[in-house]
Amino acid sequence: MENIANAILNHIHFEPDMHIMDFGSGTGLLLEKIAPAVGRISAVDISTSMNEQLDKKRPSLDCELEIIELDLSQANLDKKFDGIISSMTMHHIKDIKAMLTKFHAMLNSGGFIAIADLETEDGSFHTEDTGVFHFGFSREALLDLAKGAGFSNVEVTPASTVHKPQGDYPVLLLTGTA
Ligand SMILES: C[S@@+](CC[C@H](N)C(=O)[O-])C[C@H]1O[C@@H](n2cnc3c(N)ncnc32)[C@H](O)[C@@H]1O
Repeated sequence: MENIANAILNHIHFEPDMHIMDFGSGTGLLLEKIAPAVGRISAVDISTSMNEQLDKKRPSLDCELEIIELDLSQANLDKKFDGIISSMTMHHIKDIKAMLTKFHAMLNSGGFIAIADLETEDGSFHTEDTGVFHFGFSREALLDLAKGAGFSNVEVTPASTVHKPQGDYPVLLLTGTA
């Protein structure tokens, strides 16, 4: 997670007055690293238990935090952000094109996406496949999907590698601007 956060910090020029969203924030492993660089983070996650764990970290976070419990593939969030970050969540989303289109509409003009997820894998990453809609993504698919959703300056770069007993899994970072 440290590597993913560093890859995002290296690619994106954050400003102290920025309001960003972390999609699928979980326990906040990514957002706690980005917090010192921005003013406010809206953490969106469907899971009550994840949100409860994140809430406990609130006092140690270096920015304002809003926790929103929501299934963003079903519901809309009527807010605008300067950027959207996400780590290891998109493979749990069935319709990637629809989600990226939603992200585009939720960004202020010039706002960014920085989305990290697994590169195409053989299905061995998860031992249980419930809620897994994609065995990672190819670089080309991510570029096409982001361009199709209206993003410019689209780039995919290596972000990290997750080491598991059953293998090593490269993680890609998709960036682009609205
Ligand atoms: C693999 S975890 C990643 C958590 C965190 N970003 C990290 O890297 O440690 C995926 C997270 O996405 C959340 N999630 C999955 N589908 C979602 C949806 N449709 N809307 C909001 N959150 C979702 C899950 O509850 C989970 O916390």
